[in-house]
Amino acid sequence: MALRTIDSLDVAGKRAFIRADFNVPLKDGVITDATRIEAALPTIQWAVAHGARVMLASHLGRPKGKRDPKYSLKPVAEALAELLHMKVILAPDCVGPEVERLSRTLDRREVLLLENLRFHPEEEANDPAFARQLAALADVYVDDAFGAAHRAHASTEGMAHVVPVTAAGFLMRKEVEALAKISNAPDRPVVAILGGAKVSDKIKVIEHLLDKVEMLLIGGAMAYTFLLAAGHTVGDSLVERDRLDVARDVLARAKQRGDALRLPLDHLVTTDLTGAAPLREVGVDIPDGLKGVDIGPRTIDDYRREIARAHTIFWNGPMGIFEVDAFSRGTMAIANVLADSNATTVVGGGDSIAALRRSGRSDDITHISTGGGASLEFLEGHPLPGLTVLEQ
Ligand code: 3PG
Repeated sequence: MALRTIDSLDVAGKRAFIRADFNVPLKDGVITDATRIEAALPTIQWAVAHGARVMLASHLGRPKGKRDPKYSLKPVAEALAELLHMKVILAPDCVGPEVERLSRTLDRREVLLLENLRFHPEEEANDPAFARQLAALADVYVDDAFGAAHRAHASTEGMAHVVPVTAAGFLMRKEVEALAKISNAPDRPVVAILGGAKVSDKIKVIEHLLDKVEMLLIGGAMAYTFLLAAGHTVGDSLVERDRLDVARDVLARAKQRGDALRLPLDHLVTTDLTGAAPLREVGVDIPDGLKGVDIGPRTIDDYRREIARAHTIFWNGPMGIFEVDAFSRGTMAIANVLADSNATTVVGGGDSIAALRRSGRSDDITHISTGGGASLEFLEGHPLPGLTVLEQ
């Protein structure tokens, strides 16, 4: 897949519309993790250094097509000003005459951040007229929003058909190269570790990866659905009963492939999910009245042994309710095993990234993807609309 990137363009004096994914986590209006903003800096800095008049656009959250101050990009504008050491003007909107005027009067020592694209329902509807309004702002369209590449929205797909010159940003290229490598030509053996609460969120990627990897290690609450499907007891643990058949099918396929899927051998269990009640270790079967909250020590050892054999490792999703300290041992152990490994390591998904950050080992990972849903869809083998349009 050959992507034209921004560095092949002459952007001097041109209005460069850079679609980034600044959909960052916020708590009380404060950004709690600026990874996505930092990851977009190389493209922005290249455009500025090469004389472009830079406009940045993103969505933030899911404001459902309505203007809502809670989802304003103001905190992002402030973070960008600090990181770029430049004046960042926050536009009052993302389209309209005032924004067009600002795009034309923009000084090359400042950048213009458009207000949340999703304040307009036309963004998610990929409305052609709205895409044309966005395109009217741009001489050059640069898509660096890998995290939103699985969305066919006006700013990620529609406008790319209208602006005459399009290219990918550096983050987009880095993400695609890293994920294409593990999905198409990985150093084998490949081990994928998938966790998180729901089988339904991960089922497609599990089905796809079963044929691609040597071993799939399952953790998090979704393991309880698989264990129940395999005939074990899971007590009061979270399960998706409507996914038991799918889980059974996956287990049968994994067996045919020579036991290519591993489930936890033991668990940490409790009666209370806040960490206030006593915690116990149990074997593979969870007694009535107890909820699984983390993988146990035998599972950690087992998974560590499997990971040690791998030359490529992909991880998405925590092994337990890692936000509660007492239930974080399994997830933190996996983070450290990956960081200690000499294999190519790729991590995606907000929770696994947060766990890595907590372990202080993020720098020891080969590639941390800024895309949660996008990286999973890429590995499922789905064409991503935001990428397909750049290739056309
Ligand atoms: C993400 O956080 O995965 C992307 O920014 C896409 O956001 P969305 O799931 O609200 O479309």
